[in-house]
Amino acid sequence: MSDVLARLKELQAGDLPVHGGRTLAYVYDAGMPELDRVAREAVAAFAGTNGLDPTAFPSMLRMENDLVAFAARLLDAPDTVAGTVTSGGTESVLLAVQAARDARRVDRPRMVIPETAHPAFHKAAHYFGVETVRVPVGPDFRADPAAMRAAVEADVERTVLVVASAPSYAHGVVDPVTEVAALAADHGLRCHVDACIGGWVLPYAARLGRGVPAWTFAVPGVTSISVDLHKYGYAPKGTSVLLHRTPALRRPQLFSSADWPGYTMLNSTMQSTKSGGPLAGAWAVVNTLGDDGYLRLAGAAFEAVDRIVAGIASQPHLRLVAEPDSTLVTLSPDGACDAFTICDEMAARDWYVQPQLSYRGQPPTIHLSVSAATLEAVDDFLVALAESVSAAVSAGPVRVDPEVAAFVAALDPAALGDDDFDGLLAAAGLLGDAGTDRSGGSSGELALPTRMAEVNALLDLASPALREALLLAFLDRLSRPTPR
Ligand SMILES: Cc1ncc(COP(=O)(O)O)c(C=O)c1O
Repeated sequence: MSDVLARLKELQAGDLPVHGGRTLAYVYDAGMPELDRVAREAVAAFAGTNGLDPTAFPSMLRMENDLVAFAARLLDAPDTVAGTVTSGGTESVLLAVQAARDARRVDRPRMVIPETAHPAFHKAAHYFGVETVRVPVGPDFRADPAAMRAAVEADVERTVLVVASAPSYAHGVVDPVTEVAALAADHGLRCHVDACIGGWVLPYAARLGRGVPAWTFAVPGVTSISVDLHKYGYAPKGTSVLLHRTPALRRPQLFSSADWPGYTMLNSTMQSTKSGGPLAGAWAVVNTLGDDGYLRLAGAAFEAVDRIVAGIASQPHLRLVAEPDSTLVTLSPDGACDAFTICDEMAARDWYVQPQLSYRGQPPTIHLSVSAATLEAVDDFLVALAESVSAAVSAGPVRVDPEVAAFVAALDPAALGDDDFDGLLAAAGLLGDAGTDRSGGSSGELALPTRMAEVNALLDLASPALREALLLAFLDRLSRPTPR
């Protein structure tokens, strides 16, 4: 058995580090090994517990209600609030959209979202047949309430939901929730605030005296909020909270089925059987940290953000895309170098920073989700960043052969077949020869390049539709069992 665990450890060696504060996307590190130990033990202790039936495992109901109560206090919710712990931000968003759609039951439902809203809303649209009306944001990357009002009023009858982010992932700014919620309320519509990434840290920012625009249930017209425990709640992966202002607003989210010969099914989430592990892990973390712990961690994360922001000011080829409202920092290089090479250079120095492709004429950017553990390493980060920028300037921006660029720009994803995708993925370096793996072995695994700048530069030239088609083709080929 220990052999199996050793093999798992070996597999993990190729992953991004979860601890150490050097992975600035995907993971959120409190920098507290004892907290991680408690969380791991809690997950393990409840891994086999099943949330399928809240009466069979009352421990899960208790933990869920405790977490909802904590989130409700944090987000200024009224006593009427009704909440649910879900498996993550995407599930919280899916349920908010599903509940909004089913509350109105109109033909061809639509929702009005800022174009910076997370793709979870597009996923919800895709799953639930809701049209997304994407409204351009202002020059400060915040939602434009006047434009959103016009979009709502273009067809109030079919509109089931209006959305704002606190903050948006790509730019780290908080939308003007007061105005967006007011326009929704003027038309009797639901307004969801997606605070998945910032909802657990922004309230502490306010307590630390940092200016945060109003975005919680204190804002009239906000009907639901999503906030993830597995981000700035520093809980293990697998938990988010979805709060509705009243039980009546949550009601369409609940599902029961008793019209079959088996057990009666009663669910508040998309999952039915679900492990108690993530819930127990989150409960352990929240009860270990409490308000004081979160305040301290928020202080550390914001100190790291402030030092990064100050450090960027002295970097000749980098600028902030927006003054951060939260713990997310977005950087943009000038024409002397490119974002993708900087990301690769950072990776070579054991820092993960996330490339973001160009969007509607805005150039590619670099995303940082800064957590408390990054504070200890922030000087090293700034040194690595300066070196990476210098290296990227020396290398010059990634050049894609103009013929390849013209070819990619002219491709119509709808007209491409499987063979075309194989060819394109191979040309991009994303599909190794069958039968070879990263180390040149013959496992049949796909070969992944270690440097991604060329791949990203190529993807960046493609239309969003072609990018999506290529990514799907890639995922399809990635997720196949390795022949034995
Ligand atoms: C604003 C926002 N909403 C929703 C999500 C989706 O969360 P998850 O990845 O937990 O499904 C994210 C993830 O980063 C996010 O930043």
